[in-house]
Amino acid sequence: MKQVKTSPIKVLIVDDIADTRENLRKLLSFDGDFAVIGEAANGLEAVTLAKRLKPDIVLMDINMPVMDGIEATRIITVEVPMSTVVILSVQGEQEYLREAMAAGARNYLVKPFSVDELINTMSKTHELESERRARIMPMVAPQRRLGRIVAVFSTKGGVGKTTIATNLAAELSKKANRSVVLVDLDLQFGDIAIMLDTVPVRTIADIAREEEVDSEIVEACLFTHDTGIRVLPSPLRPEQAEIVTGRHVEAILSLLAESFDFLVIDLPQGLGDVSLTAMDASDIVYLITSLELPAIKNASMCLEIMDALGYDDDKVKLVVNRPSREASLDISEVEKTLKRTVDISIPNEGRLVTESVNKGVPFALSSPNAKISLAIKDLAKALDPQRKGEKAERGSVSRENASPSRRIASVFAGIFGFFIHG
Ligand SMILES: Nc1ncnc2c1ncn2[C@@H]1O[C@H](COP(=O)(O)OP(=O)(O)O)[C@@H](O)[C@H]1O
Ligand SMILES: [Mg+2]
Repeated sequence: MKQVKTSPIKVLIVDDIADTRENLRKLLSFDGDFAVIGEAANGLEAVTLAKRLKPDIVLMDINMPVMDGIEATRIITVEVPMSTVVILSVQGEQEYLREAMAAGARNYLVKPFSVDELINTMSKTHELESERRARIMPMVAPQRRLGRIVAVFSTKGGVGKTTIATNLAAELSKKANRSVVLVDLDLQFGDIAIMLDTVPVRTIADIAREEEVDSEIVEACLFTHDTGIRVLPSPLRPEQAEIVTGRHVEAILSLLAESFDFLVIDLPQGLGDVSLTAMDASDIVYLITSLELPAIKNASMCLEIMDALGYDDDKVKLVVNRPSREASLDISEVEKTLKRTVDISIPNEGRLVTESVNKGVPFALSSPNAKISLAIKDLAKALDPQRKGEKAERGSVSRENASPSRRIASVFAGIFGFFIHG
């Protein structure tokens, strides 16, 4: 299958000899199909840069100081699976070459090689790998998706994400003819199932174990709570979390959005591949904060990062949970500090919340008129696509014109750029 190339193949050159790197860069610059996006002088630098730049191809020398090319290949193959390693070897390195291939390299070139050999090997390897990946995990093409995706996020744990996500999903499910799924992406320590007093049989980890993510397997892993809420639970054990990647999350959310009107996602604290993938795919992100000083500092940083990621102001809603008189700041001070309004404030109702958790029934259902439930109603109302003249049609920022992996790569590039310059 010939692939339609939309943009050049991104290449990372790894060799300890500067002249070799320079030569390779020159050779590749003659061919418009390739763009050299970085150079590394040893394996360790290669790993760091590959994680950051997500190249399509890593041209990797074997013998290098600090960390050799075989070890670097092993790490990149596992930790940056979207990058393909092509080994640069010299005559007589057969044993090393075998090790490099076993470590996950997909092809090799024996020095000295011609420009044609270089270009052909790289093109063929890239084409084959792209095809293989597409079959393992068909990334759902950016197509018209129907469901609205809502992510509940915070920089800190214990601020109320799970409480809010669960009750928001319950609130949204109240309307007849409306389908809602609650997705627990707090992969290591997800609490949704326990909050709903359920022990799930299958979880998101069972989807990640499959060769292909399709709607059948996703549907098979959902459970239906007594209240009717559909849930995709997080793995049963923390160590199962690592098999679920951003690519799985992207595919799962795309599929769910085709069959549900609303997806409510409970996220882990902090920014990681999974959180960023989910927030990137979301129409709305509820950023939850308490009124403590450190929480506000982190929320401020988070808002800056979201801005750098291209999330527009309408996409990110600031939610204060449990404001109290004892807190170090009040809402107006927070608004001044963050230079934006707090969209919704959720009152502290300890007794009701605890009772709801103990019974495994969201308070939005059992006590619909409590103040806290009315605040959840406001969160749900803010999701109405018709509000404020928002377009009913989904889609935000550059999601529709970039492939998922490119978008993720650029998200990370954006974040690193922010950390470097910010
Ligand atoms: N508005 C609230 N009023 C009272 N208790 C709350 C409220 N929001 C959250 N809690 C409690 O705070 C604790 C942390 O909430 P949780 O939703 O698990 O946070 P996170 O998911 O962010 O870690 C839980 O014990 C929860 O019952
Ligand atoms: Mg939680």
